[in-house]
This record gives sequence, C-alpha cells and structure tokens, in this order.
Amino acid sequence: APRPSQDLYELMEQVGRYYQAQLRHHADRQKVIDYLKGRGLSGEVVKKFRIGFAPDAWDGVLSQHRQSKDEQDKLVETGVLIQNDQGRRYDRFRDRLMFPIRDRRGRVIGFGGRVLGDGTPKYLNSPETPIFHKGQELYGLYELKQAIRDPQQVVVVEGYMDVVALAQYGIDYAVASLGTSTTAEQMQLLQRTASKVVCCYDGDRAGREAAWRAMETALPQLRPGDQLAFVFLPDGEDPDSFVRQQGKDAFEAELDKATPLHQFLFDTLAQSHRVEDGSLAKRALTLIETVKDSVLQETLLENLAYRLRLNSAAELKRKFGVSSRPS
Ligand code: UTP
Ligand code: MN
Ligand code: MN
Ligand code: MN
Ligand code: MN
Repeated sequence: APRPSQDLYELMEQVGRYYQAQLRHHADRQKVIDYLKGRGLSGEVVKKFRIGFAPDAWDGVLSQHRQSKDEQDKLVETGVLIQNDQGRRYDRFRDRLMFPIRDRRGRVIGFGGRVLGDGTPKYLNSPETPIFHKGQELYGLYELKQAIRDPQQVVVVEGYMDVVALAQYGIDYAVASLGTSTTAEQMQLLQRTASKVVCCYDGDRAGREAAWRAMETALPQLRPGDQLAFVFLPDGEDPDSFVRQQGKDAFEAELDKATPLHQFLFDTLAQSHRVEDGSLAKRALTLIETVKDSVLQETLLENLAYRLRLNSAAELKRKFGVSSRPS
C-alpha cells in the first residue's frame, strides 16, 4: 500500500535540493553569497546544513512541478506552496536564505527562511504539517548525531544561526528549539540525547524568561543523573555573536561554568521573594513538588534547606507544612 507521507518526504527532499541549487546557479546568487560572507559562514558549514536560497519569485518551487497537480497538492500540504481562495498556488518562501529542518532520520520535514537583511518577519517557518510538528523537533539534532555518536552534553540555543555558527567553530553539539520556548517533548528528547543539557539562550530579557520556562518544563521529568544548567550571555549577545567575537574556547569556558539548575532556581526566586516571611521557601517548594523523581526531589529539598540555613529537608517540610509524598 502507498504510504502517503512517504511522498511528502520525497518532495521535501527535492525542494531542499532545489533551494541548494539556487544558491549555486540562480542569477541573484551573488547577493546571497555576500550575505553569507557578511555573516562569516563558511562554504563547508553551508553545505553541512544544506543551506539554500529561495529566489524572489512566486513560482520558484512551483515551476518545478508544473506538470503534476498531484505533486502541487502535496506541496501545499507540506506548506512549501500556498493555495489562495481562488485556488492559485504560489511559493511560500521568496527571497530568503533557507534552512532545511531535518528529523532524526535526516529527512527534510520543514524549512526556516531568513530575510536577506532587514525585513519582517525575520524568519518565516514552515507551518505544522502531517510531517512537521515544531514542538517535537530540534533543529540540528540530526547533524549533531552524525557528528557525535554519544555526546557528553547538548547545548540548546534559540536560533538556526546559533546552531550553524557554533558548528562552524567546532561546537557541533548544539541544537535549536524552533521557537521561543522549549516544549516538554523537546526537553525529553534533549535529556535522552545527553546526560547534560545546557540552555544557552540570547542575552536579553526574552532569553532569560525562556530559561526560566525551560527549567519549569524540565523539573517534572528530571531523573537522577540528569544535569541541567544555564548559560547567561552578556546583554545583546547570542551564541552566534559570542562565538564569533570570543571564539570556541571562550564559549566552552562559559559552558563549563554554567549555572546549575538549583542555583538558577534559588537565585532567581531570591530576586523577587523574601526569605524572612517564608515566601521564597513556599514558592521554591511549589516548584520542587513538581519533580516526580523522589530522589531528585529530596536532593533539591536538602539544597533549599541549606540555602535557608535550616538543618534538613525534614525541618524545611515541618516548618513550611509540606506533607511528604506517599511512597
Ligand atoms: P532571534 O531574533 O534571536 O534571531 O530569534 P537569530 O536566530 O539571532 O537570527 P539572526 O542572527 O538575526 O539571523 C531566534 C529564533 O527565533 C525564531 C527563529 O527560529 C530564530 O532563529 N524566530 C525569530 C522566528 O521563527 N521568526 C522570527 O521572525 C524571529
Ligand atoms: Mn505526525
Ligand atoms: Mn532573541
Ligand atoms: Mn538571536
Ligand atoms: Mn543572531
């Protein structure tokens, strides 16, 4: 029996190749090459991530599938073509640098397209489709697995460019979460990829808030041995700009001194909660209670007790009225 989604994967592969070919042959390619050069990207890394170019045309991809209505229908399904109310089809991605998003098996399932300069939206992404579920994928995970069989750590960043720039500098164990917040499914995937997960979001308010949400997402599903840590870049920097200015060693030094989960949790709460009236303890306990693994939960409680200058987790629970979980 035919597998309908199989056709979608094959078409996406063709579309990816088409965008790559435009980077080599299209009349407008020089401006794209200049853009890539301006951002310091090497030909090698462009190739590794199969970066391409969607020309400034309504019928770029479309022109490749003029003969087959069936293929066009499927390209609409994948979101590469858009069909308007009159039934006309046209290219979604126009005049953009194209980043193919691949699943764990290396199949192209979606694209991110960056405007070549200023303009909005800065990135246009594939919509949700039968083969692309944004919240379940990590950009760069396939490339990471190709490079490293058993990674010690995995770094989560915000953007396509961050993954690519880090890889160019030899940090080939970064992935991006394809949106502002890292979902529970993505966090689980990260925890399965390596025992240490380091979140390194942009050094701005949005990045710091994303880190907090990532921690809240990770807490319930943490297991003993899982390490989760956070790097906070200087304001205005992201991993791409940081690694270009400071280099590989400086970035890896930041990873080595990443803030561990418990410290991030308590330090952040300490900024907005008082110790004296018990509000810090109560808020921290609420979070710690979401941890399903009892060993890990106990470790965090001990840590909190220590920070509050109490003798033990038991005293902490007594003082703030937490019932211990039934075992
Ligand atoms: P950023 O705004 O930090 O962009 O968004 P960036 O990755 O640093 O991009 P450059 O360096 O300016 O090229 C981080 C990520 O958020 C998503 C993209 O995945 C982007 O990589 N994003 C951002 C969008 O999907 N759409 C947008 O318009 C902007
Ligand atoms: Mn599915
Ligand atoms: Mn940002
Ligand atoms: Mn950024
Ligand atoms: Mn950037």
